[in-house]
Amino acid sequence: MLEVENLTVAYGDILALQDVSFFLEAGEMVSIIGANGAGKTTLLNTLMGLVKAKSGRALYVEPSKDGGNRGRDILQLPAHERAALGIRIVPERARVFPNLTVEQNLRMGVYGLSGSVDVERAFGEVYELFPVLKERRRQAGQTLSGGEQQQLAIARALVSSPRILLVDEISMGLMPKLVDLVFSVLKRLNDEKGLTILLVEQNAVKALAIAHRGYILETGRIALEGKASDLSQNPKVREAYLGGDAAGGSV
Ligand SMILES: Nc1ncnc2c1ncn2[C@@H]1O[C@H](COP(=O)(O)OP(=O)(O)O)[C@@H](O)[C@H]1O
Ligand SMILES: [Mg+2]
Repeated sequence: MLEVENLTVAYGDILALQDVSFFLEAGEMVSIIGANGAGKTTLLNTLMGLVKAKSGRALYVEPSKDGGNRGRDILQLPAHERAALGIRIVPERARVFPNLTVEQNLRMGVYGLSGSVDVERAFGEVYELFPVLKERRRQAGQTLSGGEQQQLAIARALVSSPRILLVDEISMGLMPKLVDLVFSVLKRLNDEKGLTILLVEQNAVKALAIAHRGYILETGRIALEGKASDLSQNPKVREAYLGGDAAGGSV
């Protein structure tokens, strides 16, 4: 569904990503594990069109189109056209609109999609996934706790019925109980609705536990890849990402 080939991204002289290649099949959950500064946010922002690639391709094949469609390079499209294809990001640190209510934040998620989305139904679904948002739907975004804001950020991405959900370190700063909650919702969306999810995380234990496949990103390069279950058994991965040093080390 998405095939990234030799993606290189630089900020001035700093190479943030170097020849990164990976793929995402329709219906898959894939985790990209990396320590602080590995390039995870850069990767998602580049796919979303918020950061410009230096070189490489990201071929997107729409699931409804059958054989013969070789896909198109989304790196050549402006951000709004990628959003129109159904690519959505849950940004790092769950940015929500602070002065808008929960419900108004959700409305921003369907802005411009009138007609193509059944808003009442979409809202009903996310309120079912995150009951606390329903309770607080008239409260301003800034009055929510960090965990509630993370839930709102996911919900806001979901109401538009995305085809691919890009999730940036959703576990960051959350209490373990809330990490379990948001990860179980992501797993449910993948299992039950077949939503294709790309999850970037430092939390290797939990991210590999819910993913089908994974990649280890180390200072801008893919160092290892494989089935999530194999990666979580890999001694090098265990030592660097699953041991005492949760901040990550070198594979
Ligand atoms: N806007 C920027 N300008 C310059 N360097 C940046 C910028 N954003 C990120 N970087 C650098 O790029 C590298 C990757 O950063 P980032 O993608 O945020 O990593 P991660 O999300 O894995 O922590 C880091 O070395 C970081 O300092
Ligand atoms: Mg980041």
